[in-house]
Amino acid sequence: METKRHQQKIEEYITNSEQETFLLAKKLAEDFKGNEVVLLKGALGSGKTVFAKGIASGLGVKDIHHVCSPSYTLINVYQARFPLFHIDLYRLEKSSEISDIGWEDYLGEGVIIVEWAEKIKFNLDAIHVTIEMNDKNQRTIRISNSV
Ligand SMILES: Nc1ncnc2c1ncn2[C@@H]1O[C@H](COP(=O)(O)OP(=O)(O)O)[C@@H](O)[C@H]1O
Ligand SMILES: [Mg+2]
Repeated sequence: METKRHQQKIEEYITNSEQETFLLAKKLAEDFKGNEVVLLKGALGSGKTVFAKGIASGLGVKDIHHVCSPSYTLINVYQARFPLFHIDLYRLEKSSEISDIGWEDYLGEGVIIVEWAEKIKFNLDAIHVTIEMNDKNQRTIRISNSV
């Protein structure tokens, strides 16, 4: 049996504006192969949706103004270089409600971005992004390829 070990890679960035966070995410997504899962964690207003917009832009979504938190629809799908599935778990409490979305069906079908990823357990490969609010305009953003 072959054991595959990934070396854990953690990167930490400080951004000082919405635009900087957007560009950081955009740059990250430019190298995506099309099956990435991005798990976004951070408080309300920390910048998860800004980060998701940057990802969308990096994947080639033209009108990123249409990219917004799918708080009511739960999942938004955008067409770009790959399909992009944008999920927001903010309003969901029970794990049964979360599994009802059936979002795991999208695994391998495109890029998946999950806001409020604290609410799920996900054991497969993913890009974990944690955003911390330092002050009004400054964020610490940690990006790692495992928990
Ligand atoms: N460095 C920064 N990075 C991201 N957003 C920032 C930053 N500084 C200020 N902001 C502001 O914080 C808010 C983030 O909102 P949003 O992305 O909707 O948060 P969330 O989706 O995490 O609730 C926006 O109003 C944005 O302009
Ligand atoms: Mg949001």
